[in-house]
Amino acid sequence: MSTNETQMNKPIAEAARVAADGDYVVIFDTTLRDGEQSPGASMNIEEKMRIAEVLEDMGVDVIEAGFPIASDGDFEAVHEIAKVVKNSTVCGLARATKADIDRCAEAIKPAASGRIHTFISTSPLHMKYKLQMEPEKVFEKVIESVTYARQFTDNVEWSCEDGSRTERDFLFRCVEAAINAGAGTINIPDTVGYTVPEEFADLIRDVRNNVPNIDKAIISVHCHNDLGLAVANSLAAVRAGARQIECTVNGLGERAGNAAMEECVMALRTRNDVMPQKTRIMTEEITRASRLVSTVTGFTVQPNKAIVGANAFAHESGIHQDGMLKHAGTYEIMTPESVGLNKSNLVLGKHSGRHAFKEKLKSLGYELGDNAVEDAFRRFKTLADMKKEVFDEDIVALVDDSVGSANDKIRLVSLELLCGTVHQPPRATVELDVDGDVRKVESTGDGPVDAAFNGIKEIFPHSARLQLYQVSAVTQGTDAQAEVTVRLEENGRTVNGQAADTDTMVASVRAYVHALNKLLDKREKSAPDAMTA
Ligand code: KIV
Ligand code: ZN
Repeated sequence: MSTNETQMNKPIAEAARVAADGDYVVIFDTTLRDGEQSPGASMNIEEKMRIAEVLEDMGVDVIEAGFPIASDGDFEAVHEIAKVVKNSTVCGLARATKADIDRCAEAIKPAASGRIHTFISTSPLHMKYKLQMEPEKVFEKVIESVTYARQFTDNVEWSCEDGSRTERDFLFRCVEAAINAGAGTINIPDTVGYTVPEEFADLIRDVRNNVPNIDKAIISVHCHNDLGLAVANSLAAVRAGARQIECTVNGLGERAGNAAMEECVMALRTRNDVMPQKTRIMTEEITRASRLVSTVTGFTVQPNKAIVGANAFAHESGIHQDGMLKHAGTYEIMTPESVGLNKSNLVLGKHSGRHAFKEKLKSLGYELGDNAVEDAFRRFKTLADMKKEVFDEDIVALVDDSVGSANDKIRLVSLELLCGTVHQPPRATVELDVDGDVRKVESTGDGPVDAAFNGIKEIFPHSARLQLYQVSAVTQGTDAQAEVTVRLEENGRTVNGQAADTDTMVASVRAYVHALNKLLDKREKSAPDAMTA
């Protein structure tokens, strides 16, 4: 390991922030690791890098960028993110084995600040059935894994998987041993989303009162949302002394997801009167992060979702509207601006020039290279020709739509459709470029979507099954862009593709092609064996 790449003796900025201010809460974002474990939420490297960039911009302290041993793709993503992120710590996950920790250490090597997060299950159920290990063997592994990880970095986090269902005395012993071995962060996960706020707060207080060396570590929590309590449990833990929250944008994550970052952060900001704890998150970036994660993963945000749902700041009833007009505080506990939501305003038209477009991109939080701006500008002009009014949401969809397309093997060249009451059965003419080989076919189907998708299958035969086809409008009006999500499944691998266009059928075919490209990427970089985390 060369000296300029070692992680040893580097300042641990997030720990310094907690040391300087006892109310500081470290935000550890795991959208790119636990979030990616949501079935279908897989992201390619370019997409992960775009998200990491936004997370860094918004002030996330620690970005968990992946599980390096899980696949070559995961390793590469952590490695590439580690190279470019400068203001957040980049973290990789590792089980309690040398092979996992070696791979993780290699992946975070280029980071300005890198962390190894190693974990092992400690609950009776997990030790007996999942690990098939005696508690004393697990205890040894805790010491071994943390000691080994400390050879690569001073910044080591240790997690007791299924911590909330672990016997207290055993938990205290493991935590004490992990700290003695050199862990600076101790994470207590509620892996199965089973706990409730009072109980979890008690657990955190118990850890603080019964682990003799606990003052040498930051207590972290990682709550899953199976009972819809992930955010409440995380906040209860913070009030009981935890100083790191592990969370994801839009609450993405295994099964029902993790604690939603935007909810934790906005609750701390809005209810500062009862919770003096604070983060350094620039909350004005929340909407941008939410939209990007939703576009990339194809997981649309439910309209009534707190903070980032389309209705979170909408007032429908007459009584509420009347109250809002008299004083916004009557029904609004935080401003839309505080989460980066501008009132949907008409922005640009077909006569707008490059300069105005660049300024608009900047105000929406995009910093694109010259080529990307040119490409976006060209597509904006085409859109402005077709659509009377171009809103901020249209521009966001247009820019995000190009995410991850640079290395695509399959591209749509042209599409023609004949359908309606006269043309039966519906017929599609699809032309694709597959790695430079351009082919055109005519196909039929039960409807225009089916006909077009059959055409794709004819040109590029594959066994992936269509699991989801979803259309939503980016803005209002019949000339709105359609945003289409397509989910494909092949041999247990699930991917989502997304595309936006004023023509619903073009968006549909591009979304299908996007999903196929992701599947190809996944085939190339897939895991050697199934992972558990
Ligand atoms: O849910 C969990 O316990 C995890 C650990 C790896 C922290 O994701
Ligand atoms: Zn988890």
